[in-house]
Amino acid sequence: MKERIKTVKSLEELQDLYTATFGKNGTMTAKLKNMAALSNEERAVVNAENSELRQLFRDKQTELENAALNAKLATEFVDVTLDVEPENRGTLHPLTQSLKELGTILESLGFEMWTGPEIEDDWHNFTALNTPEYHPARDMQDTFFLENKNVMRTQTSSIQIRAMEKQGVPIKMFAVGSTYRKEMDATHSPMFHQIEGLYIDKNITLSDLIGTLRELLSKFFERDIELRIRPSYFPFTEPSVEFDMKWDNGKWLEIAGAGMVHPNVLKNCNIDPNEYQGFAFGFGWDRMAMLKYGLNDIRAFYDGDIRWLKNSGF
Ligand code: PHE
Repeated sequence: MKERIKTVKSLEELQDLYTATFGKNGTMTAKLKNMAALSNEERAVVNAENSELRQLFRDKQTELENAALNAKLATEFVDVTLDVEPENRGTLHPLTQSLKELGTILESLGFEMWTGPEIEDDWHNFTALNTPEYHPARDMQDTFFLENKNVMRTQTSSIQIRAMEKQGVPIKMFAVGSTYRKEMDATHSPMFHQIEGLYIDKNITLSDLIGTLRELLSKFFERDIELRIRPSYFPFTEPSVEFDMKWDNGKWLEIAGAGMVHPNVLKNCNIDPNEYQGFAFGFGWDRMAMLKYGLNDIRAFYDGDIRWLKNSGF
């Protein structure tokens, strides 16, 4: 038996042998059961044999386990000096990144984010925004018309109407989402994105609008900015203005449309314009991202070309 234990080659074999020796019907078990019939000397012999065998089994088990571990270590090692494969890390799309930044700033100013449907009815996209049917200002937005007078929303201003209808006043919100117009060149894509802010309360003035935009733009572009305000026209604001920002090359860039919300728009949302007023502003979210990150073709945003995403610093 001793010799057999020494020549065992595997843990399974050792287990079988152990069972044959110390198991229920094992040879050693039988001897131990028979101890009562033996003399003291004979018992001493059996006891010695018992502990010797147990020791041999333990030693063999340790030996086999070590051998198995060493074999594993020899094959499964990691060469820490090898070059690592370049990691292909995902990054946020420039639009996602800029929305995060703009959203964080607007939220820090107390504006709450709203979204709305991309297929919009005539009321929310135009009529409630003081642009009834046959209003010439409808021409400003090349619209994709759908059935039943529905449209692909041309502006996120529709979300403002929904927010005022649902929540009433006072309200301080911003709307984000994709918008659609029939136009396409390097600076226009048929699907693009807008962000619009709205703040209606009892004592809101044009200076609140200017302060808000100054704060938003200087935080987003991370610099002191020079703003210019020009009179403009939107059917849903009165007065209407446009904000230009002075760029590095000294040129003025058109940044946002804005104004004081037109009394008709408030009335359309069951808000009394004699008690409440406020401002709204809107800008192209894609355009903001292009300016901040120095990108020059809006269409590239939607191509899904990973090389472009990488080269644009993302
Ligand atoms: N919705 C306008 C546009 O798409 C932008 C705007 C928003 C202007 C809010 C004034 C106030 O051009």
